[in-house]
Amino acid sequence: MKPNPSAPSRKRLWRLPLLAMGMASLLSGLWGGLVRLPLNLPLPSDSANWITFHGPLMVAGFLGTVIGLERAVGLPGKWTYAAPVLTGAGAMALAGGVLGWPGLILLTLGSACFVAVTFRVVQLQKAMFTITMCLGALLWFVGNLLWLWEWPVNRVVLWWIAFLALTIVGERLDLSRFQKLERSATPTLIGALGLFLSGVALSAIWQIPGECLAGGGLLALALWLGRFDIARRTIRQPGLPRFMAVCLLGGYFWLGLTGVLLLLSAPLESGLRYDAALHSFFIGFVFSMIFGHAPVIFPSVLMLPVSFHGRFYVHVAALHASLLFRVSSDLAAWPVGRQWGGGLNAVAIALFLANTVTALATGTKRSQPGGSHRMAAKDAG
Ligand code: HEM
Repeated sequence: MKPNPSAPSRKRLWRLPLLAMGMASLLSGLWGGLVRLPLNLPLPSDSANWITFHGPLMVAGFLGTVIGLERAVGLPGKWTYAAPVLTGAGAMALAGGVLGWPGLILLTLGSACFVAVTFRVVQLQKAMFTITMCLGALLWFVGNLLWLWEWPVNRVVLWWIAFLALTIVGERLDLSRFQKLERSATPTLIGALGLFLSGVALSAIWQIPGECLAGGGLLALALWLGRFDIARRTIRQPGLPRFMAVCLLGGYFWLGLTGVLLLLSAPLESGLRYDAALHSFFIGFVFSMIFGHAPVIFPSVLMLPVSFHGRFYVHVAALHASLLFRVSSDLAAWPVGRQWGGGLNAVAIALFLANTVTALATGTKRSQPGGSHRMAAKDAG
């Protein structure tokens, strides 16, 4: 059979609506977050949900859809796309102003499909990293079920944190798996994961001790990653490997700080300390990882080259500086500082999007070809 030259671009077109739904969730969720700071911004009619569902739009609508899409791209079979289709549709229902159940149910169904996808990956390859990611997906699903059961967001947010923490730890284990680790590495990792997971489970029935234990677990995970991740070596290489390493090590700092903040300020309840703990994790840790992995993940998902450029350091510096300002203002109980810091967080994310779109548009031969991001990521660390 003759190869069909239009096949890759048709596949790419297929992925674009899913990516667009993820991006629409990010933008509506960010806007809602800015209004919650509070900043006096205009809101289109029917968009009160952007404020109320800021957290779910960011976690399930944006991250859930993009992670689900990235996983589906790497697996055979169209059914794997059910997860991002459902979370994307659920987020669009929420962002479009549909009240109540439809959005919540679609997001929860999407996370259930994602559990099936990660379970399939475990069947294909039984390894510590695949099991860790599958556990992360399961915790996200349980968190969503509790939320559907009308638990408030502050009581389920630790389960969402667990989803992202375990997904990212699993991803790092995957990308570092060819380096030889000391014998103590696996038992200490299992210990840190065990501590964190016991805390998450305990928090459902005994909030403060559970959250403190989970905070200790996150701190232990951050120390483990800082000690054993390949980023400590790749930071000495020039170009993309160094850039990724800077993002990763910066992210581990924020992960450790989240652990400390949880230990010191449990219970998680709306207020400035809540803001500090949550955004140290979601912006400091998760977005550092996104910034670091974007130059290899976008080519894979979009099948388009992204050329690495030194200006990428600008959005990284902007993110860390603005977040330091926001979290210090939170801890100093200075709401105006939080408003400025939160607003500048959004500017850093907008800069990232602008730099990435420019790099996609001007993709050069220096970039990695699409479809081989795992190889590229292994080279870059
Ligand atoms: C410019 C960036 C952001 C701004 C301005 C912002 C703003 C806010 C504000 C003001 C709150 C309320 C805190 C409170 O109740 O005391 C909040 C809560 C929250 N944020 Fe963000 N946020 C941003 C980014 C993010 C990101 C990137 C994520 C996740 C990936 C996220 C997830 C959450 C979650 C889960 C909550 C808890 C929601 C709730 O309790 O209803 N935020 N955010």
